[in-house]
Amino acid sequence: MFCMGENLTGGYGGADILKGCTIGVEQGEIAVIVGPNGAGKSTAMKAMLGMLDLREGQVTLDGKDITNFSPQARIAAGIAFVPQTSNVFTGMSVEENLEMGAFLREDDFTVTRDEIYDLFPILREKRNQLAGELSGGQRQQVAVGRALMTQPSVLMLDEPTAGVSPIVMDELFDRILEIRETGVAILMVEQNARQALNIADRGYVLVTGENRFTDTGEALLANPEVRKSFLGG
Ligand SMILES: Nc1ncnc2c1ncn2[C@@H]1O[C@H](COP(=O)(O)OP(=O)(O)O)[C@@H](O)[C@H]1O
Ligand SMILES: [Mg+2]
Repeated sequence: MFCMGENLTGGYGGADILKGCTIGVEQGEIAVIVGPNGAGKSTAMKAMLGMLDLREGQVTLDGKDITNFSPQARIAAGIAFVPQTSNVFTGMSVEENLEMGAFLREDDFTVTRDEIYDLFPILREKRNQLAGELSGGQRQQVAVGRALMTQPSVLMLDEPTAGVSPIVMDELFDRILEIRETGVAILMVEQNARQALNIADRGYVLVTGENRFTDTGEALLANPEVRKSFLGG
């Protein structure tokens, strides 16, 4: 697979949180990770970004082993990450937030910035407003936009629709589908499992740091066991 974490095993110093789980995504595809609270979904994302000491397992990007890369080196290699919380600089304007996303770039990033404004027109309108003054959904747009400023080949999103209304969620998913059309590989953790699997090419159900079900989004949505235990029937 284009970007893959295989047999990921490790945690935060105590007992292992990830117990041999495997996740991955192809270019131009959306892979969704679902599972109960505390399953290790965010921890798996951190492992992909290199923020976790793995005892076992490996992370590859475009056929290259990046297991020993620092998070900075992984970002430079094409991985972008939107964390679950504190994902915007609230005291900075929308435009400054986007510029922060371009910190690794030495070329002219204004074209990318304008593309992000085309994708999220409300951000262009509010470019001089403090990110902290925006609605939850608009902040998530800033966070995704900031991540896109590095022109990543892999975009990792940890619960991008947390705390937003169903309408805003649908809009955000539409934008994520647009990003997929550009060929980016999107790896996303979602609490709104049913809606997320609906747009997923590939889905992973994680439980206690292990893969419980792995299939296409469509097949997981149709699986009676998955429906009963993880999708509310
Ligand atoms: N920084 C941390 N230090 C120690 N334990 C943590 C830390 N972050 C998460 N955990 C623990 O790891 C487990 C998995 O957490 P997490 O990956 O956040 O789950 P999920 O995202 O699936 O809800 C939980 O038991 C949680 O308490
Ligand atoms: Mg989480």
